[in-house]
This record gives sequence, C-alpha cells and structure tokens, in this order.
Amino acid sequence: MQLRAIRSVAVIGAGYVGLPLSLHLAKAGLQVTAVDVDPTVVAEINERRAKVEEKEDFEKYFRDPDVQRNLRASTTPVKADAFIIAVPTPIYEDSKAPDLRAVTAATESIAPLVERGNLVIVESTIPPHTTEKIVAPILEKSGLKAGTDFLLAHCPERILPGNIMAEAIYNARIIGGINEESTRAATALMGTFVKGKLLATNARTAEFVKLIENSYRDVNVAFANQVAVLCDELGIDTGEAIALANEHPRVDILDPGIGVGGHCIPVDPWFLVHACPETSSLIRAARVTNDSIPARTAAKILQAVADVEHPRVVCLGATYKPNVRDLRESPALHVFELLRGEGLDVSLYDPLVSEYACDSVLSAARGADLLAILVPHDLIVTEIRYRRGAVLDAMRRPRIMAFSPGVI
Ligand SMILES: NC(=O)c1ccc[n+]([C@@H]2O[C@H](COP(=O)([O-])OP(=O)(O)OC[C@H]3O[C@@H](n4cnc5c(N)ncnc54)[C@H](O)[C@@H]3O)[C@@H](O)[C@H]2O)c1
Repeated sequence: MQLRAIRSVAVIGAGYVGLPLSLHLAKAGLQVTAVDVDPTVVAEINERRAKVEEKEDFEKYFRDPDVQRNLRASTTPVKADAFIIAVPTPIYEDSKAPDLRAVTAATESIAPLVERGNLVIVESTIPPHTTEKIVAPILEKSGLKAGTDFLLAHCPERILPGNIMAEAIYNARIIGGINEESTRAATALMGTFVKGKLLATNARTAEFVKLIENSYRDVNVAFANQVAVLCDELGIDTGEAIALANEHPRVDILDPGIGVGGHCIPVDPWFLVHACPETSSLIRAARVTNDSIPARTAAKILQAVADVEHPRVVCLGATYKPNVRDLRESPALHVFELLRGEGLDVSLYDPLVSEYACDSVLSAARGADLLAILVPHDLIVTEIRYRRGAVLDAMRRPRIMAFSPGVI
C-alpha cells in the first residue's frame, strides 16, 4: 500500500492526552485539527487559551509561531492524512466493565473520512484486542481494508499528570501496528516529536503492555496499603516496619496512602480483569484492596475524634495525588464524602484547587479538633513544618494526622 506523506493530522479528543499531542504535532510542522465534542474545549483552543490542569502555563505553547500557524480546533472531524484517537475510556461504575462508547463514537465519526493511504492511531488506553476487533471493523464499514487500504496502530500514552508536555516528548513509547507497515508508519509519525525510544510491537501486545504497566503500579500500591492495614491490626508502626524491610537489598515497598486515584490506575486494571476474569485474581484483589482504603481512612479519622463532643475535622488536600490540581477519581474526595455522610462537621481545603481554596493551613486549622492531611502537597507540608506551633495553637484540640510515613 502507498502510504500518503503525512502533512495533516486530526486528533480526536483534545483533553489531557489529545491537547499536548496536538501542540507537539503542530510544533513539529504538521497541520493539526484538534477535534472535540465539547464546544468549550474547541473554542478555548481556537482562542489560544486552552489548558489542562497542570503546573505549566499552556499559553506559552500556543504562542509558538509554528503552533499559531498549524493548529486549529473543530467540533466535527475533518479529512486528514492521519487520525489519532485520544478520547476517554472509563469503566462502568457498577460492573467495572470497560466503557468504550467514546472510542466507538470517535471511530464512527472518522470512518466516513478515512481514505486509501491514511493512517489511524488509537492512543486511548483500550482493552486487549480492541484495535483489531472493534476499531478496525468500524473503519472497514467504508469498504476499505485495515492494513491494506489504510494503516492502523495502537500507541498507548504514558504521560504523568503534572509533567505532561515533557513526558510526551521524552518517554519511551510502545508502537503496535496491526501489521508491520502500520507499525512503521505510526513510528514515523510519533518520531516527528518523540525523543524517547520508539519500541515496535503489534497492536495487541501494545494494548496489553499499557494495562500491565498500570496493574503493576496498582498491585505494588495495594501491597503497601495491605502492610499498613496489617500494622494497624498488629500494633506496629508502619513507617518503621517498611523502612526496615526496605533495608533488604531486594525489597522496595512503596508508601501506603489513602487509596489510589487518577484517571488510569484505578481504571485500567479492570480491563484485564474483565478480559480474563478466571486468571486475573491478583489484579482484582489489588483493585479491591486499594478501593477499600478510603473507607478505612475515614474510619481512622472518625475513631480519632470519637471522644470529642461535636468534633470539627479539617481535611487538607483534595486532589488524587500530591502537587497536581487533578481531582479525577480522587480518594481524598471519597474520604471527605464518607465523613460528611457520617454527619461529621468536616471541611476540605486544598491550596491548589480553587473550589477548595484556603489562605493558609493556619487559617484552615482555626478551631479544629483534628487536621487530617489527606494529600501531602508540598505547600501543605512545608507550612505545617515551619508554622507547626502556630497551627497547633490555633486548633481547639491540637492533633494532626497523616496517612503516609514521613509526612509530618
Ligand atoms: N490523563 C492521563 O494522564 C492519561 C495517561 C495515559 C493514558 N490516558 C488515556 O488517554 C485517553 C484520553 O484520556 P484524557 O485524560 O485525555 O481524557 P480527557 O477526559 O482529559 O479528554 C478527552 C476528551 O475527549 C473528548 N471526547 C469524548 N468523546 C469524544 C468523541 N467521540 N469525539 C471527539 N472528542 C471526544 C472529551 O470532550 C474530552 O475533551 C484515555 O483512554 C486515558 O485512559 C490518559
């Protein structure tokens, strides 16, 4: 098949993944259309004021002359030499089954536009076999054959929220085509801006690798969280136990916390569990363990104020992890809601999130019976370290609780 020279790219879905990708491709000199069903997202990109919740100033990327010239946004897909799908892939809340409605809708939206010689890449995280068994058949309804008339690959994303622009360039990337020609074409397109390794494989291995990466993280966090639960039950200091165990040359236990949040790790392992329910017991157990931690955290907080009449608890940190503004799947929000559900007088402050803003830890602490550090943002921990006396003096009962070793 004669692959067209790639001069134009339509990126379908312009969120955390699609927007940085669009900016990098435009900077690399390609004509990019960022397509999103949300008209606000599209308007913001066209007005050069779009951003995802990052530390970075996204407007500086829009000021780049190449980006100014090459990037536009649209609510409807347009013809292009290559299409990259970067839409959400959540799970259904009750069944935990993958919810692929956005992927199928995005694929259907480009199907009438895909022509002979085009390349289609799925960048969304997807369950095993989705590229070949779901995406390809939708695109082939046009009469064109995947791998012969147009090329098709899966290139999963590994960016870390908080540092996405740099990670999009420097991380090693897995490139999995449905055939070798598709892998080569996708590698060439990604190579226009990625400086990390481009690791060639097939589509189904690429899908699987992304899922085992996040399952690996989840299982390791679950182990640390289980260690903390065991320590509580046995009356052992968790921080000390883990620090001592980590002195073993081949042991490296992570810090336990209040649960696992964010867009990927609490979601992606379920794709494997759903695909292979009989043979994924460890991955399922890790998910269940990590999902149980917010309730344990809430119970610990309630127990800490059980002897106080009308206790007032202040929770610090709302995001899914420290030093980001991202609230998606945040266990801190879950803990807060559980405490509120118990009728506790509880408030939530986060210096990084405008809806939970407070002037300082000191002002948040006034009159509280307990300060619970749910998310140890540097801003929170630093203030507590430097103004500890004043913070404790401002409280009705001076008590600060943290849920990871070494925070306070
Ligand atoms: N956020 C991360 O750090 C990260 C990291 C690695 C992988 N991923 C994966 O990348 C994919 C995208 O995640 P995200 O964080 O960018 O999601 P997001 O919610 O930030 O953005 C997705 C965008 O797609 C748009 N959209 C939804 N359906 C659409 C459709 N049919 N056509 C066009 N636009 C549509 C939404 O309006 C939204 O703006 C997911 O599969 C996710 O698991 C995300």
